[in-house]
Formats: sequence, structure tokens, C-alpha cells
Amino acid sequence: MPDKDILLRVENLKMYFPATKTLGGRVTNWVKAVDDISFEVERGKTYGLVGESGCGKTTTGKCILRINEATSGHIYYKDMDLVTASKSDIAKIRRKIQLIFQDPYGSLNPRQSCGDILREAVVLGPGRHDSKATKERVAELLQTVELLPDMADRYPHELSGGQRQRLGIARALACDPELIVCDEPVSALDVSIQAQIINLFQKIQKELGLTYVFIAHDLAVVRHIADTIGVMYLGHIVETMDAEEIFTHPMHPYTKALLSAVPITDYDVERSRHRILLEGEVPSPIHAPTGCPFHPRCRYATEACKHEMPRMKDYGNGHMVACHNTEAAQKDTVEQ
Ligand SMILES: Nc1ncnc2c1ncn2[C@@H]1O[C@H](COP(=O)(O)OP(=O)(O)OP(=O)(O)O)[C@@H](O)[C@H]1O
Ligand SMILES: [Mg+2]
Repeated sequence: MPDKDILLRVENLKMYFPATKTLGGRVTNWVKAVDDISFEVERGKTYGLVGESGCGKTTTGKCILRINEATSGHIYYKDMDLVTASKSDIAKIRRKIQLIFQDPYGSLNPRQSCGDILREAVVLGPGRHDSKATKERVAELLQTVELLPDMADRYPHELSGGQRQRLGIARALACDPELIVCDEPVSALDVSIQAQIINLFQKIQKELGLTYVFIAHDLAVVRHIADTIGVMYLGHIVETMDAEEIFTHPMHPYTKALLSAVPITDYDVERSRHRILLEGEVPSPIHAPTGCPFHPRCRYATEACKHEMPRMKDYGNGHMVACHNTEAAQKDTVEQ
């Protein structure tokens, strides 16, 4: 089998924010937003990062974009370590890695028409920038994201949520990127519009050979687009697997709980199934539990879970789980 073409490799990434400081400026407490995560993304594929609010998804994305300076670890984009690369080296590949937000509204200048917004992005991208070439490129981008040509004359506030996200995607594409970090790009949209935007992401991925890191809190959304899924809990990745496998063979108790909350359209299956209600709140990343971060909410937790951080164990086919008690969780069929 040929070697995988890995475009992005995250190794032991940590991002700690100072939480409290003494009067002298010494940090006494840290928010461990991302605490030693590793994953890799194959070129042309989608890595889905899922987990509850506050588990560190956006922080991971911002480290990749170098918006956050990682505390430690490595983020290899091809051969370049984005954590240690100089600002001038980062500038050289800046346009190759783009970020798409939940709602691009905040980053769109309300006084610029959609055409101007795209023209500005095109001029920063590769290729010719004379007015004819720029005009053609803007028209091409609108067509790629399936917006009508007359949208160029409209302003962001005149667009619907879905159209605005299409504009955000067109702007990211203007720089001819290779990797796009999509941070909850459909979470603010109606379900029917979500499906259209997901389809658009898939279409342009195929056409342009793009690679995505796709962040979402909704497993049902990630399932549609991701090839591989990483489940995050309190700064850690607790399970990584093939996107299909997450529904057929979840192993970590947290993944199982997340899955049990995903609605199933088949009424009989939905009615007969048991929900796993996660007890308690997600602990604060400032006072993260010792041992397994999930143990205070886990129904299978044992003494070992309280003291020992479980290591990622390989269950074959890239299915990795960090849990001391996967056997107990597998035997328990209550939630199936
Ligand atoms: N600049 C910052 N300073 C201090 N703490 C921060 C900062 N940015 C994020 N955090 C904290 O880091 C943790 C992870 O935040 P992050 O935004 O990455 O979570 P998330 O998984 O994206 O959540 P959501 O689903 O709500 O977007 C949170 O506890 C958050 O409060
Ligand atoms: Mg976020």
C-alpha cells in the first residue's frame, strides 16, 4: 500500500492560557485548553474534530493558523513546523491555510459589497491581478460557491445566513488554499441549509483537492463530511476512528454518550433506544480532574481512572481509544 500523503500532522500539542497571576505577574493557574493532542490529516481528506463546548476545538484551530502561539508540541504542515517557524516563513504559506468561521459576518466589512470583499481577497492571492483577471476570478468564485453573479453588487447584511457562509467560503478560496480549518461553519444555520453547505464543502473538496479540519459539536454533521473523526474532551482527544466506525463501533464511554444524543430518523429505532445522560457539568479546564478527564462523569470509572491518565490504545484500522475500561463499556448493552 502506498504511504499516506499527510498534509498536516499535530504532535503533542498543548495550549495553556494563564488563568490567574500573582501581583508580581507569576502565573499560578493555567487554563489547559488543549492538553497534549496528536492527529494527522491526509491530503484531500477531512478530519472532523467533535466535542462539547469549551473542550478546545477552536483553540486547536487557532494554533494551526498560528493565531494562538502553542505552549508546546508540533504542527507540521508538510515539512514546516508551524509552532516554531519564523514569521517570514509563516507569511510564505499563510494563504495556503485558511479559516472559515461559524458566521463570517463579524469579519466581513459591512461597507464593502460582496464583489469588493472578493476582489480584495483575490488581489492577495496568486496569479494576475489586472482588473480583467480579477473580475473573471471573482465571477468564477461566485460560480464555485453557487451564488448568482448579481450577488457581487449586494452587501453582507442583504444576504441570508447560508449565502453569507457561501461568501465566506468564496473568500477563503480566493487565496487558492490547500488546507481549510472550518470552525463550526454550519452550526448557526437551519438544518436544511446546513445540508446544502455541507454538500458545497464536499463538492469543492473534490474539485480542488482541498484538505479540511472540520470542527463541530454535532456528530451528525461531522459524520456526513469527515473521513476520520477525533472526539475531544476537556483538551484531550479520547477516541479517533474512521467516520463510519464511530456509529457502528464506538468504544469510549464519552463517544457513546455523545452518540446517544444524535437523533435517528427511524422512529422505531429512536423509540427503543436508551439515552445516556451525562451527569454533572464539564469540569473547568483550570481545575481539570486528575487521571482520566472524563472519570467524574463516567459510569464505568474505577480507581485507576481517578489517578492514571489512560494512554491511547490502538484497536486496529486507525481506531485509537484512551480509556481504562473499554471492555466494561463494550459489554454494557444498555445504551445500544
Ligand atoms: N484567550 C483565551 N484566554 C483564556 N482562556 C481561553 C482563551 N481562549 C479559550 N480559552 C478557554 O479554553 C477552553 C477551550 O476553548 P475553545 O474556544 O477552544 O473551546 P471550543 O471547543 O471551541 O468550544 P465551543 O464549542 O463553545 O466553540 C475554554 O475553557 C475557554 O474558556
Ligand atoms: Mg469553538
